[in-house]
Amino acid sequence: MLIPLLLLSCVTSAVASRCGVARMALGMDSVSGRVARTARRSGGGRVATLVDGSEERVVEESQTFSTVSALNQMSLSHFRCHDITVDPAPDVDPFGLVADDIARLNAEVCNEVTGKDEVLTASSQHFFGAGNTREGKRVRPVLVCLMGQATALLADMDTQQQQQASEQYRGLAAITEMIHTASLVHDDVLDAADTRRGGSAVHKLYSTRAAVMSGDFLLARASVALSRLGKTEVVQEMAKSLEALVQGEIMQLQSTADERLSLEYYLTKSYCKTASLMAFSCKSAALLSHHEMDSEVAVAAEKFG
Ligand code: FPP
Ligand code: MG
Repeated sequence: MLIPLLLLSCVTSAVASRCGVARMALGMDSVSGRVARTARRSGGGRVATLVDGSEERVVEESQTFSTVSALNQMSLSHFRCHDITVDPAPDVDPFGLVADDIARLNAEVCNEVTGKDEVLTASSQHFFGAGNTREGKRVRPVLVCLMGQATALLADMDTQQQQQASEQYRGLAAITEMIHTASLVHDDVLDAADTRRGGSAVHKLYSTRAAVMSGDFLLARASVALSRLGKTEVVQEMAKSLEALVQGEIMQLQSTADERLSLEYYLTKSYCKTASLMAFSCKSAALLSHHEMDSEVAVAAEKFG
C-alpha cells in the first residue's frame, strides 16, 4: 500500500520550499539566559525578542503553522490507487515486510546506548529489551524501513549504493526510535506520569535525574549515529524534528483557553508532537535513497509521514 502511494505521489517544488522548518520561537536573554519577551505573530508563530544592549531584535520566528498549512494543502489523493473506504484491505502485512530489520533494532540500539554508568545504561535501554519492558509497536522504524524500500524503487542507485542505503535505512529507523523514546522518557517526567506502556515510567523505576539523563543520552547517541550516516541533509532534517518535538510540548504546556479550542492550534501542536518526527524521518529515508531535498519523492515522503 505504501509503495504505490509513494510512487504516484506528486507535489510541486514550490510547495516543498515552504515545507522547510518548524522553528521554535524561544530566545534567551544573553545575561539572564531567559526569554526576554515573546509575542504572537499574525501568521500564528511566536516571536521572541532579545534585549541586546538598548536594542530589541527578533531572535527566531516559528514557521510551524505555515508548514502544517502547506502540508495540509498538498493533495495526494488523486494519485492514490487504493481507497480504504471502497477497496478491500491489501493482502500484505507491512510489519512483515521489514520484520528482519525490526528484529535487529533492540540489539542495535542497546549497542549504541551502552555507557560506563550502569544506571544510565539500564535506564536508556529500558524500552529496548532490557528487563521485562514493553517495546511499543515500532511504527516509526517500520515506516522508515518501508519508505526506504519504496523510495529506492524510484532511485537511480547501483547495487553497491542500494546495499549501503538499506543499511542506512536500518540505522535511521533505530535513530528515529531512540529520539521517540527519549521524548517519551522526558514527557513522563514533565507529565509526572507513573506508567508507560503498562509498566513503570523510567523516572519512577530509577529517578528523575536518571530519566532526564537517559533521555539526553539517547539523544546524544542518536546524534552520533546520525552523523555516522554521513549525509548532512539527513542530519539537518532530523534536527528539525527535534526542534518540532520541543515546540509541540511547549505549545501544549503554554496554550491559552482560546488556543485549546482552535483546530489549527491543535493540528499544529499534534504535527509537532507526533507527526513531525515521522515526516522528517520519512523524508530522510528518501534522501538516503539519493533523492534531492526538494524532489517530488522526498516531499511526498515528508507529507506521507
Ligand atoms: C507524549 O505526549 C509526548 C510526545 C509525543 C513528545 C514529547 C516531547 C518532549 C518531551 C520534548 C523533548 C523532546 C526530546 C527529543 C527529548 P502525551 O503526553 O500527550 O502522550 P502520552 O499519553 O503518551 O504521555
Ligand atoms: Mg504524557
